[in-house]
Amino acid sequence: MKSHVLRPLWVAIVVVASVLVARVFMVPDDFGVHGDSFTYNFYRLGNVQEWKDFPAKYQGRERCARCHEENTEEIAKSKHINMQCENCHGPGAGHPKKVKKLPINTSRDLCLRCHHYLAYPSSQRSELPGIDGNKHKKNKECRKCHNPHHPDLGDM
Ligand code: HEC
Ligand code: HEC
Ligand code: HEC
Ligand code: HEC
Repeated sequence: MKSHVLRPLWVAIVVVASVLVARVFMVPDDFGVHGDSFTYNFYRLGNVQEWKDFPAKYQGRERCARCHEENTEEIAKSKHINMQCENCHGPGAGHPKKVKKLPINTSRDLCLRCHHYLAYPSSQRSELPGIDGNKHKKNKECRKCHNPHHPDLGDM
């Protein structure tokens, strides 16, 4: 064979060989221990425990209810009934021990991400009651008029 064929062939062989050697050292021992079926067993066993130990950022409102009973009851009687507290106050991990208070975001943007009307309705998001964030009571914080925990217009 001509050398301009042989040379790249050697390079290819060396590349493949080094990948195979590297694989021996780099694939963890617990990879695919349940067999080598790509569908169910092609994973690292240790990863299961790693995810079990992964600290959850969000706690769910049952937890908030333990201490913030009033807020929880109020929201449960409102149109915001399906909303998680942490949707507006951020993840509750570590609160109240390490994080004394969760943030209170009073910006218009917090509400507008759900309530700015969509010009081109495409999803369930566009079924939420919508306003034009650039016009509706411009520059005023929403909470001045709407109670975030009980926004029902009928009760305003
Ligand atoms: C073990 C009791 C406890 C739990 C559970 C708890 N909190 Fe709190 N939370 C507190 C205490 C205590 C404060 C501080 C109150 C203060 O200093 O006025 C606080 C403060 C807050 C504040 C700030 C209030 C303010 O006036 O600045 C927010 C918002 C808040 N919590 C939301 C939540 C949310 C959302 C959850 C659920 C993810 C939650 N909390 C779970 C006890 C708790
Ligand atoms: C739609 C967004 C939103 C949701 C959902 C929400 N909050 Fe709030 N929360 C706010 C805003 C905005 C304020 C500030 C209100 C103000 O100062 O007028 C606030 C204030 C608070 C405060 C401090 C004032 C007070 O009323 O004691 C606490 C505590 C609190 N929220 C807890 C909760 C808990 C617990 C839940 C879930 C049951 C929850 N929030 C759900 C937006 C929200
Ligand atoms: C100055 C008081 C005031 C402020 C500030 C205000 N609103 Fe309103 N909002 C109202 C009143 C009053 C209504 C009843 C309908 C109307 O007059 O437009 C209303 C209606 C709504 C509706 C219902 C629309 C419908 O067609 O069902 C939504 C959603 C709403 N506001 C969201 C917001 C949001 C989000 C903010 C902040 C970006 C905000 N509002 C700021 C007073 C206010
Ligand atoms: C994650 C999405 C989401 C966010 C963020 C949110 N809302 Fe809502 N809002 C809803 C849903 C869902 C409803 C109920 C719609 C229905 O029942 O038709 C609603 C209803 C309302 C209504 C109409 C009540 C009525 O009687 O028709 C007002 C006003 C309102 N929200 C104000 C606010 C304000 C103010 C904020 C910010 C503090 C806010 N919302 C943040 C989802 C959201």
